[in-house]
Amino acid sequence: MRFGFPGQVRIFLAGGVVLSSLLIALAIPARAGVSMIYPEPGTSVGDSRHLVLKLGNTELTSVVVAVNGVASDPLPVGTVEYRRAFRDFLILQPLWDKGKNHLTVDTFVGDKKQESFTADIYYAPKGETLDVPKEFRPAVMHRPEADELCVPCHNMKPSMKQVIDVPDKDNACYSCHKRMANQKYVHGPVGTYSCAYCHVLQGTPLYATPKRDTKLCYGCHQEKEKELKGYKFLHGPVAAGMCEICHDSHGSDYPAQLRMPINKLCLSCHEQIATSIHVTTLGGGESHPLADRTDPSDRGKGRELSCVSCHDAHGGKARYYFVTGNDNKMELCQMCHKK
Ligand code: HEC
Ligand code: HEC
Ligand code: HEC
Ligand code: HEC
Ligand code: HEC
Ligand code: HEC
Ligand code: HEC
Ligand code: HEC
Repeated sequence: MRFGFPGQVRIFLAGGVVLSSLLIALAIPARAGVSMIYPEPGTSVGDSRHLVLKLGNTELTSVVVAVNGVASDPLPVGTVEYRRAFRDFLILQPLWDKGKNHLTVDTFVGDKKQESFTADIYYAPKGETLDVPKEFRPAVMHRPEADELCVPCHNMKPSMKQVIDVPDKDNACYSCHKRMANQKYVHGPVGTYSCAYCHVLQGTPLYATPKRDTKLCYGCHQEKEKELKGYKFLHGPVAAGMCEICHDSHGSDYPAQLRMPINKLCLSCHEQIATSIHVTTLGGGESHPLADRTDPSDRGKGRELSCVSCHDAHGGKARYYFVTGNDNKMELCQMCHKK
């Protein structure tokens, strides 16, 4: 199945909404037809996180959603529990195909088909180079008219305190963005849903990030700023202040929230290293290994050999940013090849 319901269906009381008011609202049947709140039809996304639909009819019993012809099982949206929790909203985690996606939503009362809704969405995964055709503008969730629809059940105008001082479930961003922390390496402030340290709570567009790169990162990583200021040589992208080119602000599957595995990241700018002799020529004319071995040095702590076994990714006291902190190549060799 390509879709999952968001967690279990249970009564949701965020933002001070009490059950009785939810029930009163429920008593008024809405009949408008399916609308796609996020992503809007004809937009592009860089992530495959959520699909938010408003069904516009509280008498429907099931919905079938299909992406590029692959259909979900009938999703039972007609139960009392479902209606109480989600009313006529359907929130799914889609698995978009790369490129253009044709979405179809069929709604049913019993066996009787009610409405068919279709839309095209373009999926260009973040970090991959895939040109989005011009007709697909980027999807935006937090438009005033969309946010307003969520107010009955979610806190859409949180104070700084409700976001920063609340680390988990009661956090105003958590209720919708909990999946943000479903990554192997989660950045500290994302793990505590302190989104508002980087995203401002006012302004248009909402939740913008006016500070970027060093201006953003050094706000909390003063120790790193001091360390880097002490370096004699700064690595090109670091000297240019581009922290985000290597680190994802939220998290990733790689240590230090790197956007790619280390060697792939380094080679994305230093392609020639992959095809030339590096470090030294071994017997047979091969290059010294740069991966697929264990780093035998004390510093390596059993990690896989990689570019950062020898080079500091940020810069250093020596040319080529040797991790030994000096220019002596022999000393670098001896770090791993002790006689
Ligand atoms: C009738 C109440 C209701 C309304 C209105 C509503 N939601 Fe929700 N939403 C819920 C409930 C209940 C949950 C589940 C909360 C939980 O599991 O803690 C939820 C969870 C979510 C999640 C998290 C899903 C996941 O597990 O990743 C997202 C995203 C979401 N809602 C988006 C929206 C958006 C966007 C709107 C407005 C367009 C909206 N919701 C309007 C009730 C509602
Ligand atoms: C009602 C649910 C809901 C709540 C509450 C919510 N968001 Fe979102 N937000 C979404 C959805 C859905 C998206 C689309 C991307 C996704 O699914 O992750 C989104 C996208 C965003 C984006 C990308 C720009 C955009 O508008 O598409 C930012 C930034 C963001 N949210 C920040 C926040 C912050 C910060 C908070 C807490 C103050 C918050 N959101 C609370 C549902 C919500
Ligand atoms: C350390 C700073 C920082 C923190 C903390 C942070 N963000 Fe972001 N976020 C950014 C920056 C910078 C961008 C824009 C860069 C980009 O698009 O990759 C961004 C972009 C986004 C986007 C749009 C791009 C995408 O990845 O979908 C969403 C959604 C988002 N943030 C949600 C959140 C939520 C929700 C939280 C809290 C759980 C959060 N952010 C915490 C810095 C941060
Ligand atoms: C709101 C404060 C805050 C901001 C802004 C911030 N960080 Fe962090 N960062 C933290 C916290 C807290 C941790 C987790 C504690 C730790 O491991 O040091 C962390 C951890 C990290 C780590 C992992 C450290 C490790 O030892 O694995 C990296 C890498 C990192 N941040 C990079 C960045 C980059 C790059 C930026 C700018 C895009 C940034 N941070 C912005 C607070 C912040
Ligand atoms: C060329 C890619 C690249 C750039 C640019 C970069 N980093 Fe890193 N950073 C790395 C790598 C790789 C690691 C992991 C090093 C390791 O595992 O030995 C790392 C680790 C870190 C860590 C955690 C471990 C440590 O060394 O303290 C922090 C914090 C950090 N970077 C912050 C930053 C900040 C702030 C910037 C911008 C000034 C930045 N980085 C720019 C590649 C980069
Ligand atoms: C975003 C592009 C980019 C990424 C990613 C990148 N570098 Fe660089 N690197 C540069 C630039 C630009 C320079 C400066 C070039 C110059 O001075 O000739 C540089 C310089 C270097 C130098 C010094 C070269 C010299 O001749 O003095 C080393 C060593 C190096 N990088 C290693 C790495 C390692 C290791 C990684 C991965 C952790 C990495 N680079 C990732 C762009 C990048
Ligand atoms: C075993 C240690 C070691 C590893 C692993 C290593 N390097 Fe190097 N690297 C060196 C040494 C030694 C030099 C200095 C070369 C010289 O003096 O001729 C160097 C020089 C460089 C330079 C500058 C000179 C040039 O050839 O352009 C770059 C860029 C560089 N390395 C990138 C990388 C990247 C990218 C990786 C990972 C794919 C990597 N290195 C892995 C030891 C290493
Ligand atoms: C970060 C650790 C590290 C550094 C620094 C390093 N090497 Fe290696 N070297 C290795 C590993 C791991 C192997 C593969 C050993 C194996 O396959 O069993 C290797 C293999 C070799 C071999 C092949 C023969 C053997 O011992 O297996 C030679 C020759 C060699 N290195 C020379 C050098 C020279 C010269 C330098 C300094 C310019 C250097 N190495 C720096 C880790 C390192």
